[in-house]
Amino acid sequence: MKHARAIAMAIGLAAAAFTGAASAGPGQDAIIAAWADKAKAADPAFSGFDAAAGKAFFFAKHTGGGAETPSCTSCHTDNIKKSGQTRAGKAIDPMAVSVQADRYTDLAKVEKWIGRNCNSVLGRDCTAKEAGDVISWLASQ
Ligand code: HEC
Repeated sequence: MKHARAIAMAIGLAAAAFTGAASAGPGQDAIIAAWADKAKAADPAFSGFDAAAGKAFFFAKHTGGGAETPSCTSCHTDNIKKSGQTRAGKAIDPMAVSVQADRYTDLAKVEKWIGRNCNSVLGRDCTAKEAGDVISWLASQ
């Protein structure tokens, strides 16, 4: 298991280094592992994140949050390879790791913004599963 993971990481690094292909590196893997611990703690039946569900969550229109921010795309736009914009008009760097390599490499930063942004969009915290799904998708882009 540990071995398979090391190989997967090596392949990811090689792909990123040689082709520029979108792929989570070791920094993003550590963040996703930290969210997997949270998801397991919240639900012992947790069996892994679902990047496709994370993508759907990112693009969905939610209710419960601010009227101007029904979706993650309200600020990050529907093209995560391009810059987004805060409500106040401040630029937000692209979310795709293929464009912005340092994305999702600092757990404190991810926790801070997932906390804020989920409350803006949903009016509540994201579950660890929701957050892990969406980070898994973003980190693969
Ligand atoms: C009101 C505007 C706004 C909305 C809506 C929003 N975000 Fe963000 N998000 C930001 C800003 C501002 C930052 C911090 C600046 C940066 O990282 O470039 C950020 C940062 C993040 C980060 C941290 C990135 C990193 O590099 O670690 C994640 C993850 C994230 N957002 C996910 C989401 C998700 C998922 C949603 C939908 C539930 C969402 N955001 C909705 C404005 C927003």
